[in-house]
Amino acid sequence: MTKKAARSARAPKTASGRKPAARAPASARVRDEWRARIAAEYGSAAITQHLVLWLIQIGASPDVIDAGLVIVGDELVHSRLSHEVYLDAGGVEPPNIDRDSLQLGRRLHVPLEHDVLRAVVRFFCLGETVAVPLFSHLRERCTVKSARTALDRILRDEVRHRDFGWMALDWLATTPMAEAIPTLLEAELPGMFGDLERSYGTGNPAAMDEPSAIMADTDREWGLAPPPEYAEILHRTFTRDYQPRFAARGVDATPAWGARLATTP
Ligand SMILES: [Fe+2]
Ligand SMILES: [Fe+2]
Repeated sequence: MTKKAARSARAPKTASGRKPAARAPASARVRDEWRARIAAEYGSAAITQHLVLWLIQIGASPDVIDAGLVIVGDELVHSRLSHEVYLDAGGVEPPNIDRDSLQLGRRLHVPLEHDVLRAVVRFFCLGETVAVPLFSHLRERCTVKSARTALDRILRDEVRHRDFGWMALDWLATTPMAEAIPTLLEAELPGMFGDLERSYGTGNPAAMDEPSAIMADTDREWGLAPPPEYAEILHRTFTRDYQPRFAARGVDATPAWGARLATTP
């Protein structure tokens, strides 16, 4: 068999007998996005590790602590998988990791329990809850093998990470701080929703400009989506998840959602 014949014998064919479409080329936007995801996932690992330390310090329920530790491992895997996608896309730069962001800030004038509540809600009840529909959307049109492998694993884990947040909040509601939670959250939520809107939503004008709203199909095949779609998913998440989940815990999130655009970082 000639070399050419051997190659075509190995090449898989579609049902119609045609060769499948070539793999989508990776653009600079694909590389930038996956490089940013390496750092973001690494940051999630560090923040979760720090939160677990705090949970140990306040004597949290062992199932909450154990679930948190599993998440630290998951986030490190997500970071590694994101790095593999970045290399596959031709990336050669080291990840842009800001060490200052690899920790939680402690407000020394409030009890540690209040900072635990704040971290649980910000990163898990809010961040991981919106992550589920976001990653599901990114995965829908993702066909490049390395990216699809990463998104399959990330999406599977994010469901559990979301559940960890609400479970940790429910555990906090069994402690002596229970009565204070609705008041504390109603004060914190406008700023937290504001931060989400500034990073994912319409509050980020640079991300919502026309060129960044247009995205090549080949970028979608690498697991990307343009900013307006992130904004739409965030807004849907308020109605589908945040509002009812907080309401079930005696917290009215609607005024905070309404006030989010008036907040500053
Ligand atoms: Fe992750
Ligand atoms: Fe996560």
